[in-house]
Amino acid sequence: MTSPIEQRSMFNNDSANVRSHRVRRATALPSNRFLSMTVNDEPIDSLVQPVLIQGHALDALNLLPENSIQTVVTSPPYWSLRDYAVKEQIGCDESLADYLAGIVKTFDKLRRVLKADGTIWLNVGDAYTSGNRRYRAPDKKNRARAMSTRPVTPDGLKPKDLIGLPWRLAFALQDAGWWLRSEIIWSKPNAHPESVRDRPTKAHEIVFLLSKNQDYYYDVKAVRGPNGRRLRTTWEIPTEPRKQNNGIVDGHPAVMPAVLAQRCLRITSRPGDFVLDPYAGSGTTLLAAQGLGRQWVGIELKPAFIDLMQHRLMNR
Ligand SMILES: C[S@@+](CC[C@H](N)C(=O)[O-])C[C@H]1O[C@@H](n2cnc3c(N)ncnc32)[C@H](O)[C@@H]1O
Repeated sequence: MTSPIEQRSMFNNDSANVRSHRVRRATALPSNRFLSMTVNDEPIDSLVQPVLIQGHALDALNLLPENSIQTVVTSPPYWSLRDYAVKEQIGCDESLADYLAGIVKTFDKLRRVLKADGTIWLNVGDAYTSGNRRYRAPDKKNRARAMSTRPVTPDGLKPKDLIGLPWRLAFALQDAGWWLRSEIIWSKPNAHPESVRDRPTKAHEIVFLLSKNQDYYYDVKAVRGPNGRRLRTTWEIPTEPRKQNNGIVDGHPAVMPAVLAQRCLRITSRPGDFVLDPYAGSGTTLLAAQGLGRQWVGIELKPAFIDLMQHRLMNR
């Protein structure tokens, strides 16, 4: 068996940095150097370089020092939408209440690692009830990844109801003590067509800005809207096609546009700050952070996505 230090240094080109991570202060490192860990490793005393952790977000967050993260840009799995085929994944919960409670519990742990003036950008999608239809029509575009079953209709909702999931989550987080500061409409000019004939085609998602305290770091000048005006709450950003990356197909079905992650990071972090994505997926937030001179921490449950991120982060 490999020791935690050996495991940590597997994907780090500079093992001296790994061994001394407890005592060194954060310094600018070449972009391809990061610590690779699992949830079985020892907690980190102080963050000095980017870190990628494989495991459940609830456990992985215990490894991070308190008050070490400036901002979080994340998109958890949406409820009942996609099967990532990994044990303990969130999103496959049979009940909506369990899904919401699971995210609120993870955010309780985020509170400890966020700085007092820290923030969270939370992108979460909505869904319709299935009307107790328990099967899912095959997804021709993404056959392997759509969930094969659908959960029962939550109490109080009717067949075909829009669940209002982002707002249910926002209210739950507000009740748990988070400040809800903004609702961004991420408008998608290239949204997929839908075959529905009794409602408009959905072409947006919601991104919430939450803060740990009433006052927080926010650079109002970092990103301007059209004509140099203050940024508005409607952001038009096309979804990005899954593309070839150095000859390798990006193997993740739900990638956030890089532009969206970059914009959030510019507003609520400074160069050198540590930023976090507890559901890192293909590493969009981490790559955006790397490109903007921020340090990063990524957490992801599925080992195959950890491999994908290692490849992407080391080849930029
Ligand atoms: C919507 S995707 C994030 C995509 C990411 N924003 C990107 O641009 O690539 C959500 C991710 O959360 C991961 N995940 C699911 N349950 C998790 C858990 N309990 N802890 C950590 N990650 C989890 C999934 O494997 C998936 O990669």
